[in-house]
Amino acid sequence: MKGIILVGGKGSRLYPLTISTHKQLLPVYDKPMIYYALSTLMEAGIRDVLVISTEEFVGRYNKLLGDGKKYGMNIEYTYETSSKGIAQAFMLGEEFIGNDDVCLILGDNIFIGDMKSELLFAVKNAEENRRSTVFGYKVPDPERFGVVEFDEKGKALSIEEKPLDPKSNYAVTGLYFYTNDVVKHAYTLKPSARGELEITDINKIYLANDLLDVVTLQDEVAWLDAGTKDSLIESTIAVRDLEKAHDRKYGSPDIEAYKNKWISKDQLLARASELHPSDYAKDLLKFAKAANTKNAKR
Ligand code: G1P
Repeated sequence: MKGIILVGGKGSRLYPLTISTHKQLLPVYDKPMIYYALSTLMEAGIRDVLVISTEEFVGRYNKLLGDGKKYGMNIEYTYETSSKGIAQAFMLGEEFIGNDDVCLILGDNIFIGDMKSELLFAVKNAEENRRSTVFGYKVPDPERFGVVEFDEKGKALSIEEKPLDPKSNYAVTGLYFYTNDVVKHAYTLKPSARGELEITDINKIYLANDLLDVVTLQDEVAWLDAGTKDSLIESTIAVRDLEKAHDRKYGSPDIEAYKNKWISKDQLLARASELHPSDYAKDLLKFAKAANTKNAKR
């Protein structure tokens, strides 16, 4: 399974914050926003990632994440020349995806909590069952999102993009696992009324063919779409509070890499020295020390 992080667009809803930098480079507590999306892909065991950004900012993401070796990964980059909608990612990523299945995550989507079993289900569902998976999350303002309607057994009946009259309170999050034919489907899409190739139209194709599972995320996971001025600060506060409450770090690719055994303890410690004297580096050291104690106890 390949992974794509979409960090496109001008972020104009956040102007002037996003004139000289890019939205998914803005801080969410102590990390650049894109760290969270990358960490979610890593939690799913995805090691091969394409970052799709804009011509102006793609180099900044490259500076931040590099070729992925520091996380034991392969990270590649490309850019969109114009924003034609989320589903364009599959055309831009066509060569990178090749014959694999693919997971797309929007770079401003933040998932905090343990969702490893849901992620592994989605990977397996594509690779073994040839089915695609998206996630539903209960929100107070569904009209801002793609909205999924369920029958009484919890099976998805319909998905609508930003409906005026939502059929449920379940938003479709910006994390999508598709079988390889998503590339082919992307080419069949027509722009919507807002002029975009809608990811919801892709989901509708799978739903119509009974090849889509919608997994609802429960309370153990907090989902935040950090794309507005309020959700940006709310995400920062949520990450700070949850990290303190659970005494652990969320959205750290360095820690995910170590947990996945993609880097060694020495490599993790080397990252901490590189990032010295930041608080983030101190947290990496603290994590490495705690991991030592756990090993010693075993
Ligand atoms: C996009 C999708 C929408 C989805 C949302 C999740 O919305 O179109 O279906 O629910 O991401 O963040 P947009 O960011 O384009 O408003």
